[in-house]
Amino acid sequence: MYRSKTCGQLRIGDVGQQVTLAGWVQRTRKMGGMTFVDLRDRYGITQLVFNEETNKALCDEANKLGREFVIQIVGSVSERYNKNPKMPTGDIEIIVSELKVLNASLTPPFTIEENSDGGDELRMKYRYLDLRRSNVRANLELRHKFCLAVRHFLDSKGFLEIETPVLVGSTPEGARDFIVPSRMNPGQFYALPQSPQTLKQLLMVAGMDRYFQIVKCFRDEDLRADRQPEFTQIDCEMSFVEQDDIIRTFEEMTKYLFKEVRGYDLGEQPFLRMPWIEAMTRFGSDKPDMRFGMEFVELMDVLKGTGEFAVFNEAEYIGGICAKGCAVYTRKQLDELTNFVKSPQIGAKGLVYARVTEEGVKSSVDKFYSPEVLSLLAEKTGAEVGDLILIISGPDAMKARKQLCELRLLMGERLGLRDKNKFALLWVVDFPMFEWSDEEQRLMAMHHPFTAPKPSDVPKLDTDPASVLADAYDMVCNGVEVGGGSIRIHDAVLQAKIFEVLGFTPEKAQEQFGFLMNAFKYGAPPHGGLAYGLDRFVSLFAGLDSIRDCIAFPKNNSGRDVMLDAPSAVDQAQLDELQLALAPKA
Ligand code: AMO
Repeated sequence: MYRSKTCGQLRIGDVGQQVTLAGWVQRTRKMGGMTFVDLRDRYGITQLVFNEETNKALCDEANKLGREFVIQIVGSVSERYNKNPKMPTGDIEIIVSELKVLNASLTPPFTIEENSDGGDELRMKYRYLDLRRSNVRANLELRHKFCLAVRHFLDSKGFLEIETPVLVGSTPEGARDFIVPSRMNPGQFYALPQSPQTLKQLLMVAGMDRYFQIVKCFRDEDLRADRQPEFTQIDCEMSFVEQDDIIRTFEEMTKYLFKEVRGYDLGEQPFLRMPWIEAMTRFGSDKPDMRFGMEFVELMDVLKGTGEFAVFNEAEYIGGICAKGCAVYTRKQLDELTNFVKSPQIGAKGLVYARVTEEGVKSSVDKFYSPEVLSLLAEKTGAEVGDLILIISGPDAMKARKQLCELRLLMGERLGLRDKNKFALLWVVDFPMFEWSDEEQRLMAMHHPFTAPKPSDVPKLDTDPASVLADAYDMVCNGVEVGGGSIRIHDAVLQAKIFEVLGFTPEKAQEQFGFLMNAFKYGAPPHGGLAYGLDRFVSLFAGLDSIRDCIAFPKNNSGRDVMLDAPSAVDQAQLDELQLALAPKA
């Protein structure tokens, strides 16, 4: 037996006990003739004491211990003279009688403490050391609890956890596939699933009725703080359901998870449901952060054609937000905001502001507008003395709204309105079926091609497909899309029609999705479902800025695992076996 207790276990009631502990040396301190060692394991930290006077040889050994040495000690639990109320074990210490070094350690490249001195890349390279930090470990513990609670809830509702394969064909979710060459089928490739979408639908055709899986998904897309190339979904599907049934089931699960795992009561009220078009108009986003207001005010009637400002007179959209108490913003602060919206990521042409002061409305476009128009501006935006109105315009209404959305989020952040301990959930519903892709010059599925159109909109598939709405829904929490799903098409003819609108030839549709359309010919039940992004959900619970911090071994922003040094080149022999040749480097 390596230990009789863990490093987080002992309390004042254990004083007098003889114990054996094992763990890592967090730090050692020599104070006069005494040496103190903080011994750490997953469960906590316990203070060890070595006394030169009573056991010089042992104390000398203790003085040789370096950070992260793995040791085992025997000793007796003693009441601490200087208690540390911040530590659960802070009332006691161990008077050590035996010490054994189980393993020495090189000096770690950064300190293993809550706020480490290691930069991101360094911590990723030594992720196994980073994971020893209690706050990172706590995120994994939270993730574990979350998964258990998900399984418990879904099991109680009759869902079966069923695994689906990882070596599959393409499953379109809007990203590029990761592909895997097949040695046994030279020149052919598997694709890693972007999600198990088609497979879970086949499970419904198979009569499984209620399915879920906590499953890895793979998407080759540009990475962001809330995106990893491999991430985990809580993937779910149900048969004989309508949109309301799914929303009700997963709203209940969400409330359960918040209560059980986060200790947060979302209340009895159903979540808000907001049509997509309303979310875009009021907040410029399909995932509005509802922790705060600062809603968009459309200003076309106030500012277009009412003054000499050409930019507004030519705009297709003019919208503003009112930032409470920000009229005191300095020139420098306003320039910062302007630079923010003009940055390449946001792409606005400029920013117009108006301060509401005791002396009236002072705006960057004063000279183009009469005082009457400016005071109408204040009235329309609900701005009072002391407030700042920020205005964005543009030739493309959706683009301008998205730019204003980024500004709203920034101002919300600055004004402290995005409290990480407050949660605002909603469903965004009634998404359009399709969106136009400039790149591909065709309509693309906004969700995925298996999403059902609203029954009343089916006739418009022939006449005006761009206006067709879908039975699709996203769950949004604090401005993050935590989940999304839809009612599916379960009819082969309608599915073929959607592929046609998406520009697939019947041959191409058959080649790529023949298996699904064939299955639909054998009695497919009406079905629908959704998938949560597990990493995003856990990050929200933990108050993290990036999903990386709740993933044991994440990739960096270039999709690399810097610890494993992957991806990497492979031997020529391996390529030969796969009958692959690399193009010469350009
Ligand atoms: P969707 O593509 O919306 O739907 O994905 C579902 C949820 O997965 C999370 N997510 C991600 N998390 C981390 N990194 C990524 N790269 C990433 N991409 C998506 C998001 C998102 O809401 N098959 C459908 C679901 C369905 O219709 O049932 C699907 O995959 O939180």
